[in-house]
Amino acid sequence: MNQQENHTATREVVKVELGERSYDIQIGRNLFDTDGQVITTLMQNCRVAIVSDTNVANLHLVALQSLLDSASIQHTQIILPAGEATKSYQHLQQVCDAVLEARLERNDWIIALGGGVIGDLAGFAAGLVRRGMRFIQIPTSLLAQVDSSVGGKTGINSSHGKNLVGLFNQPSLVFADTAILDTLPDRDFKAGYAEIAKYGLIDDPAFFEWLERNWRGIFSGGPEREEAIAHSCRAKARVVASDEFENGCRALLNLGHTFGHALEKAANYDTALLVHGEGVSIGMVMAFSFSQSLELCSAEDTARVKSHLAEVGLPVSVSQLPFQLPGVDYLLDIIAQDKKVSRGKLTFILARGIGKSFIQNDVPIEKVRQFLDKALKQ
Ligand code: GLY
Repeated sequence: MNQQENHTATREVVKVELGERSYDIQIGRNLFDTDGQVITTLMQNCRVAIVSDTNVANLHLVALQSLLDSASIQHTQIILPAGEATKSYQHLQQVCDAVLEARLERNDWIIALGGGVIGDLAGFAAGLVRRGMRFIQIPTSLLAQVDSSVGGKTGINSSHGKNLVGLFNQPSLVFADTAILDTLPDRDFKAGYAEIAKYGLIDDPAFFEWLERNWRGIFSGGPEREEAIAHSCRAKARVVASDEFENGCRALLNLGHTFGHALEKAANYDTALLVHGEGVSIGMVMAFSFSQSLELCSAEDTARVKSHLAEVGLPVSVSQLPFQLPGVDYLLDIIAQDKKVSRGKLTFILARGIGKSFIQNDVPIEKVRQFLDKALKQ
């Protein structure tokens, strides 16, 4: 069997074990063409609202509509502007009203066809309309395939910060066709890669090492792509199964996100300036540098993280941001909203080295201030 045939045959099913709410993550190249019945079987005799954005709809909506047509499943579509600004009250209302306008009932379905923004928004709407409709995720970005479509975090942004209004609401299926990623802009692919690297940095040094050797295959669409996506989904599924509502270890998945979210807010969620994965990339390097400044992790490990993320083409420093950052006080204020602050102490994900991340819930704000003061001057 040649490499291409072998590659075409790559299929993985990762289970998210949550009792009655367990579901599968189907992963594979050209899954849409070969395994579409996994979707239509769920939706027999039901109606469907497809939520997508203009970019994704142009590329992939017709294929999904044809799949539903072939199984005589009635559908409507709600197409929103692309970009982080769509995760808003205004577009949440638009989706909810459109689903009701189309007369969908509680047992009907919502399909989120898109990246993290569409998945988070459509999943949130599904949790609200008629007190909860069923939904599936068809993630079309790398970031959504390895992170946001899995685990049931749904929501929108508020003027107070990112993802501050939302629900834990698990999908019934995640259907990740990796061939869809061939159409992803290079910048978005890189941004999704930051979340893959995150799983190595949290608790899997062997995976990080594997990524250092194999990242090119992931980018070029080799079999390493499915391998990395499935590995990431297995890691996420394990964490979600043991701590669905983030009372403990799930917070580790926020490595790099505290600094990253603050940078996104500072960019006013303008994805022309900064996309989520880029914020996470800079944020992970900052989390390692901060850990180093607290004498928890070695300069070598921080340098290794920075060098790998830079090698794949991700930004790794605030000095690369194409906008003027506000002052330290502004960033600290956002950080305090993003992560719980209690009596002047913050919760942070820190690291003792690559694959040795941990939750530290009593980080003095003063230490963060000192670190940011220095980081912003570099
Ligand atoms: N993206 C982090 C989480 O799902 O918990």
